[in-house]
Amino acid sequence: MWQATILTLFPDAFPGILGASLPGKGLKEGLWRLETLDIRAFARDKHASVDDTPYGGGAGMVMRADVIDAAIQGAEAKFGKPARKIYLSPRGRVLDQALVRELAAAESVLLLCGRYEGVDQRVIDAQGLEEVSIGDFVLAGGEVAAMVLIEACVRLLPGVLGNAETLGEESFGIGALGGGLLEYPHYTRPAEWQGAVVPEVLMSGHHEKIRVWRQEQAEKMTQLRRPDLYERYVMSKKNAKEEK
Ligand code: ADE
Repeated sequence: MWQATILTLFPDAFPGILGASLPGKGLKEGLWRLETLDIRAFARDKHASVDDTPYGGGAGMVMRADVIDAAIQGAEAKFGKPARKIYLSPRGRVLDQALVRELAAAESVLLLCGRYEGVDQRVIDAQGLEEVSIGDFVLAGGEVAAMVLIEACVRLLPGVLGNAETLGEESFGIGALGGGLLEYPHYTRPAEWQGAVVPEVLMSGHHEKIRVWRQEQAEKMTQLRRPDLYERYVMSKKNAKEEK
C-alpha cells in the first residue's frame, strides 16, 4: 500500500485537507497510508533545538543536520526504507504530472518539510535527498507543498477516485494534463443560465461527436493558454505516430 511519511515540526497540520473528500475516504478505507513524525522529538539537547544561526551570517535559522538525520533514521527504523526520500524546497525539480505518476507508482515516499531558511546542506547530501518544488514561488515551509504532492499522487491510486473513467479520460489524452492537455470546458444544469446556453453538441447524445468536440476544445485551450505544453503535446503525438 502506498505510504507517505512526513517529517515536520507541525504534525498537527496533517492530514488536514487530505482527510477530506475522496482522498480522505481512501485514507480511512486503507487505500493509502499517512504517517507523520515530529522532527522536534529527535532533538538532542535539553532545549529541544532543531535549528541554529547560519554559518557565514545572514537572516533566519537553519535546520540542524544531526536532528534531521536522526529523524530520517527514526522514520526508517519505524516504517522501513522509503522508495523515495524527498525534501520539499523551491530549489528542487518542479513537480509536474510526470513526476506525480512516478511518485504514485513508488511504494512509499518520505517527505521532509523544512521551515525557516532551510536545512543544513550536509544532511541533504548525506541522505541523498531529492529536492522537489511545487512551483517558482516561496512558501513559509514545506508542509503545504507536501500536501500538494500527496494529493496529486493519491488521486492516481487505484480505487481512490472511485470513478475510473475520470482517470481514463486523462490517460487517453482529453483533458487534465494526463494526456498533456488542459481540460475542456464543463457544463451542467441549467441548460440556460443568464442568457448563456450550453454548447449544442453536448445535448446531442452523440458520443463520438462529443469526444471530438472535447478534444478540439482541450487542444485550443492548451494552445492559447500554455503554448509550452501544446508544443510538447504536438511533438509527442508526432513521435508516437513515427514509432508505429
Ligand atoms: N518550500 C518553500 N517553498 C517551496 C516550494 N515552492 N516548493 C516546495 N517546497 C517549498
